[in-house]
Amino acid sequence: MIHVRDLWFCLIVINVFIKVHSLDNGLALTPPMGWMHWQRFRCITDCEKFPNECISEELFMRTADVMAAEGYADAGYEYIIIDDCWMEKARGEDGRLIADRKRFPSGIKALSDYIHAKGLKFGIYEDYGTYTCAGYPGVIGYMDIDAQTFAEWDVDYVKLDGCYADIEDMDSGYPEFGRLLNATGRPMVYSCSWPVYQEYQGKMPNYEALKEHCNLWRNWGDIDDSWDSVTSITDYFAENQDRIQPHAAPGHWNDPDMLILGNFGLSYDQSKAQMAIWAILAAPLLMSADMATISPDIKGILQNKDVIAVNQDPLGIQGIRVSKEKNIEIWTRPITPVYDGNHSYAVAFVSRRTDGAPYSISSIVSEMGLKNKNGYTVTDLFDKTVQARVVEPSHSFNVRVNPSGVKFFKFTAKP
Ligand SMILES: *[C@@H]1O[C@H](CO)[C@@H](O)[C@H](O)[C@H]1NC(C)=O
Ligand SMILES: *[C@@H]1O[C@H](CO)[C@@H](O)[C@H](O)[C@H]1NC(C)=O
Repeated sequence: MIHVRDLWFCLIVINVFIKVHSLDNGLALTPPMGWMHWQRFRCITDCEKFPNECISEELFMRTADVMAAEGYADAGYEYIIIDDCWMEKARGEDGRLIADRKRFPSGIKALSDYIHAKGLKFGIYEDYGTYTCAGYPGVIGYMDIDAQTFAEWDVDYVKLDGCYADIEDMDSGYPEFGRLLNATGRPMVYSCSWPVYQEYQGKMPNYEALKEHCNLWRNWGDIDDSWDSVTSITDYFAENQDRIQPHAAPGHWNDPDMLILGNFGLSYDQSKAQMAIWAILAAPLLMSADMATISPDIKGILQNKDVIAVNQDPLGIQGIRVSKEKNIEIWTRPITPVYDGNHSYAVAFVSRRTDGAPYSISSIVSEMGLKNKNGYTVTDLFDKTVQARVVEPSHSFNVRVNPSGVKFFKFTAKP
């Protein structure tokens, strides 16, 4: 293991000294929050058989209603984003994209207006390639007209996927589409899938270019509805943190993909664990669940203000995994308030264990990288019944973590 004590110091110094040109559209100064259909609803297009699940204007209007009425918008979730499978298979005679006529009878502009009237923002999906992943028309050959169309539809967020495209062309193609979005004059968050296609094919992505052209980017594979899928992504983020962590900052973020809690695959404990790690990673918080059927327990996790505040911390420093011993991982993230150069921290203890009983571990505070001489006031971010306690760097900190669960704390630096 690297010397954790020095690791945070190095990463923070690197952040200060790498001065790059980054995308300056004034957007995504904290990680975007919202809802995207893909993980839960995929490419369901048969509205007769699956009226409540098919990709249709109904689905997005219904979701916008719940987001506005049930506290999600107040908690910070604002973008409602259509993923793949919204189009007709062919462009119009004028070359323009057309929404599926049966499933979006009112058209995309009307849907965008509906979502805006709810006080929310509207996002859409396309693909830098000849086809989208599901075989609908991609932007190649039509980039200008597509950027223009999105602006006319009052789109606020564009996800550009990378199926049916040459990974070598992406280094010029993604920036080109970004320039065309910018040229419309409408600020749109630009989410790029550019690096994941390169990583998968063994090409090292150019993160300096990503920061210059994209507000966020997908680093690794799609998330599925299971704990295995969540941990395969968090392992990727931990194993590659030295080279990807320094690139996250206000305006440009690494994206481990959607939140899957609220679906079929995660237990209550696993749901808290995904939420905590996504907060540590400064990840976009894009829910992908049937919002009408979410249980009060899961809703409580999704709307936990203290956990969201960690995710949205204004410093925008992405957290890292500082240790993994006996299958308990410790993740930390420097956050505000900062006194005399000493950060507060969010700290998550995540169990990868499967033996039934909760597991007890004890860690010296300074060995987790927390060295404020005056110590910290520690609060439990999920369990409000736990009393705040004060710890010093030399103290050992004891936690008991459920199997595949999490304990999540804020260590507020004492001035
Ligand atoms: C376009 O780019 C310029 C230069 O980076 C920036 O100042 C401006 O805000 C951008 N406009 C939009 C609409 O993104
Ligand atoms: C804050 O950090 C600086 C630099 O590491 C250190 O000199 C100072 O003593 C720290 N202050 C406290 C209260 O720990």
